[in-house]
Amino acid sequence: MSNPLKPIVSSNRILFGLLPGLGAMIVMRMAIHLYRPDIEDAEHRVRDHPFDKLYDCYDFIIVGGGSAGAVLANRLSENPDWTVLLLEAGQDENVLSEVPVLFPILQTSSIDWQFMTEPSDEYCLSMLQRKCKWPRGKVLGGSSVLNAMLYIRGNKKDYDAWASMGNVGWSYKEVLPYFLKSEDMRIPYYQNDPYHSTGGYLTVDYFRFEHPITRKILEAGEQMGYKILDVNGEYQTGFTHSHATVREGLRCSTAKAFLRPASKRPNLHVSVHSLVEKVLIDEHKQAYGVKFVKNNYQRIIKARREVILSAGAIQTPQLLMLSGIGDAEHLKELGIYPVANLPGVGQNLQDHVAMGGHSFLFENPYTNGTDYCFNLRSAFSLGTLIDFAVHKKGNLYTMMEAEAMAFVNTKYQDASEDYPDIQLFIAPTADNMDGGLFGKRANGLTDETYAELYEDILYESSFSIVPLLLRPKSRGYLKLRDANPYSPPRIYPNYYSHPDDVKVMIEGARIVQAIVDQPALKAIKSRPNPSRNPGCEHHELMSAEHLECQARHHTLTIYHPVGTCAMGPASDPGAVVDPRLRVC
Ligand SMILES: Cc1cc2nc3c(=O)[nH]c(=O)nc-3n(C[C@H](O)[C@H](O)[C@H](O)COP(=O)(O)OP(=O)(O)OC[C@H]3O[C@@H](n4cnc5c(N)ncnc54)[C@H](O)[C@@H]3O)c2cc1C
Ligand SMILES: *[C@@H]1O[C@H](CO)[C@@H](O)[C@H](O)[C@H]1NC(C)=O
Repeated sequence: MSNPLKPIVSSNRILFGLLPGLGAMIVMRMAIHLYRPDIEDAEHRVRDHPFDKLYDCYDFIIVGGGSAGAVLANRLSENPDWTVLLLEAGQDENVLSEVPVLFPILQTSSIDWQFMTEPSDEYCLSMLQRKCKWPRGKVLGGSSVLNAMLYIRGNKKDYDAWASMGNVGWSYKEVLPYFLKSEDMRIPYYQNDPYHSTGGYLTVDYFRFEHPITRKILEAGEQMGYKILDVNGEYQTGFTHSHATVREGLRCSTAKAFLRPASKRPNLHVSVHSLVEKVLIDEHKQAYGVKFVKNNYQRIIKARREVILSAGAIQTPQLLMLSGIGDAEHLKELGIYPVANLPGVGQNLQDHVAMGGHSFLFENPYTNGTDYCFNLRSAFSLGTLIDFAVHKKGNLYTMMEAEAMAFVNTKYQDASEDYPDIQLFIAPTADNMDGGLFGKRANGLTDETYAELYEDILYESSFSIVPLLLRPKSRGYLKLRDANPYSPPRIYPNYYSHPDDVKVMIEGARIVQAIVDQPALKAIKSRPNPSRNPGCEHHELMSAEHLECQARHHTLTIYHPVGTCAMGPASDPGAVVDPRLRVC
């Protein structure tokens, strides 16, 4: 039975591990400063336009300089006759975010908004206060500065489904040219492929480092009958080495890809640390400008043509509601004058929910002490730092949360449709391999859970294969907490509220088990971590009850909240924007 002291021992051990961790970051920062001017990129970095030199009126005002906003700022300012203002609440990117291995520490840092879901009795049960953390980038480049860099398009049928719902122009055939226009494929094999292209702003490449265990897991996939293929190509079902938005092995955020090359255009002004509090709307219900705050100074700037909201799936609906667009009853309750009653705002929230804690132990086939998977204890050393800073190679180039991935079909999905219902994140590591410094903190796992699951197997060779739902049927929503633009909205993801979602997830976990049972992984004695999340101990390991319990306890977001300003034709009562993305 579990030892009541274990969580205390565990949390103290983690606390004392933080200091050397901080030291390593400082050394890393210095090494980049000294040896890697390419990362500092001082010449091309975006310059903040002085507050007192901003115009009173622009053709376009873009709110939010994230993935979408950075692209828009670039494309709109291509026309020299248009003036464009980009307002971003966060700061410029820092250099550490460029290093792939540091992906997990960016969450909960100052460039993360640090949203949390509201407590639930149905999901996120292994998390502090039963709330899941929802990181979002508060930085130029937005969430593309925090994300896992995986370059994956939607399934063809996703876009065709949008088009068939009356959204003219959104079929796969019609959106593919835009993917190609953006892309600069650096993997030679795909450069002349009809699904890829070169010469765009966004570089796509393999991660520069892969752990040996990843190769073994891909082998197991092949042994199960899956192909290793390009999941952005003709068919999606199968396994792949991850394609990533990296350049020279380093993160290529949308700020790096799209903003830096455009930032010297005289007709584009970028203002950071600028939080938009409200969109201003005239008596004809036409948006004519924004009110924003920078360094405690408030300012109103007008838009001649359009105000564009690209503040992300959480804050775009938040800003609409703060500006009086949303469910009129909800707005009145908070004392906000409803300009337009649009009940769809903040509704229809969907996310790729995943089952965490699905980790597997194995025996390291190397007998010379070299790791077969990611291990924090050996990952940061003088040698790896020199490899990174001087030789531009080595394990600091790994994105160890998903060096590979797979798209698979459960028994609920007709495999012949090539419309997989489960995606697998293949990680050459598990939360025991970082001693609780990265994953535990990023996800908000309780001390009890971490201690019970991992304290007995600290740094023992492990990998994880994390199943996520590609098309969950559950729908959540978000609401304003109050009328204050600085209050985070209340987020209710309603994970697993539709019974089919749990069923599909259990089948996803069974596919994972089948992969682990293939000869390639059996040969290195792969087996599930025998420990169970507190609250699930009484279930038989890997039984349907255990897997459901684990899904509801070890609930993870794969960070893809969408749908809160749904697009639809005039006939759709839930639509917030029309197929040309204009607020209805
Ligand atoms: C940890 C993590 C991992 C992920 N992994 C992947 C991955 O591997 N592959 C992938 O394709 N996707 C991934 N995603 C998802 C992907 O990054 C997002 O879908 C995408 O970045 C969303 O783009 P966006 O433009 O809608 O919003 P964001 O990029 O979040 O941009 C919104 C911007 O608006 C700003 N803003 C918000 N409110 C205001 C305001 N009132 N005034 C001014 N500015 C404001 C924010 O600071 C932010 O910069 C991940 C996301 C996260 C968080
Ligand atoms: C250990 O052995 C593996 C496999 O033969 C090899 O790739 C690796 O470089 C070796 N490590 C050291 C430190 O010699």
